[in-house]
Amino acid sequence: MIAIEARKLGFMYAGSSSWVLKDIDLEIYEREFVLLAGRSGCGKSTLLRCFNGLIPYFYEGELEGEVKVYGLDTRNHPPYILSQYAGMVFQNPDNQLFALTVEADIAFALENLSLPRDEIRERVDWALKVMGIEDLRDKSPNELSGGQKQKVAIASILAMKPKIIILDEPTSSLDPASAKQLIDTIAELNYKLGITIIIAEHRLDMLLPYVNRLIVMNDGRIVFQGNPRDILEKYDVMPYGVPVPRVVRVAQQLKKTLSGSTISRIPLTVDELVQDIRRWRSGK
Ligand SMILES: Nc1ncnc2c1ncn2[C@@H]1O[C@H](COP(=O)(O)OP(=O)(O)OP(=O)(O)O)[C@@H](O)[C@H]1O
Ligand SMILES: [Mg+2]
Repeated sequence: MIAIEARKLGFMYAGSSSWVLKDIDLEIYEREFVLLAGRSGCGKSTLLRCFNGLIPYFYEGELEGEVKVYGLDTRNHPPYILSQYAGMVFQNPDNQLFALTVEADIAFALENLSLPRDEIRERVDWALKVMGIEDLRDKSPNELSGGQKQKVAIASILAMKPKIIILDEPTSSLDPASAKQLIDTIAELNYKLGITIIIAEHRLDMLLPYVNRLIVMNDGRIVFQGNPRDILEKYDVMPYGVPVPRVVRVAQQLKKTLSGSTISRIPLTVDELVQDIRRWRSGK
């Protein structure tokens, strides 16, 4: 089933004279894990804003073409409706957390939906458990680490039970260990709960093992999209500002210098490269 569909999508911010998104055609299916990459300013955040109705509702400008979220045209459905399908997590969790306790923060959007009390309590408990942060329930968001705050921000989106979670550089303020932990938790939402994930991130090394589709953008357009292994095998994405993991670059070099059959696939992790080299040495 198609989760998000964009047709001939274009967008220009009010007061600007250039199109930030140009002629984007895209279909994202249920349960996909999609990574959006490309240099700063290429339009990743703008595209994500089109997926949950922030564009055209909160950002003024000229919108061309159409975007549908589970068949709902984003021009005719306001963000509070769309957010029940596609929830968004931002770069800076401080902009998303404002209540006195973690529990109250997660309950906030649910109260706005006028859900019954028992259901709110159940959903809050569930979201805390899924994110592995039950111990933070009574804490103030102010006393949390960056990684913990980002987990609370995701829990508050998760409690809305959206089919899609959109994340815009959620790990940019985190150290590598916390970023890895957060990305692993996000991946679990995808493979355990079947939630469609669309994420803009620079940490390809941590994400590639989970991603089924890599979309590379440049200057408002999609230049490449497909299975990450295929894309990295066929194309040089570095000129587009995509930080190709070192293990992939090593494999690409080996492929060029050794005979083609030695490295039969582009490994996405160090473990995969080690496996390939072991196989090669044992002559299999
Ligand atoms: N609210 C806004 N008003 C006007 N122009 C904007 C606005 N937000 C972004 N832009 C412009 O749109 C273009 C695309 O920006 P966008 O934030 O979508 O890029 P990005 O790929 O997310 O970059 P980054 O990797 O730095 O987050 C840039 O030229 C930017 O200056
Ligand atoms: Mg951005």
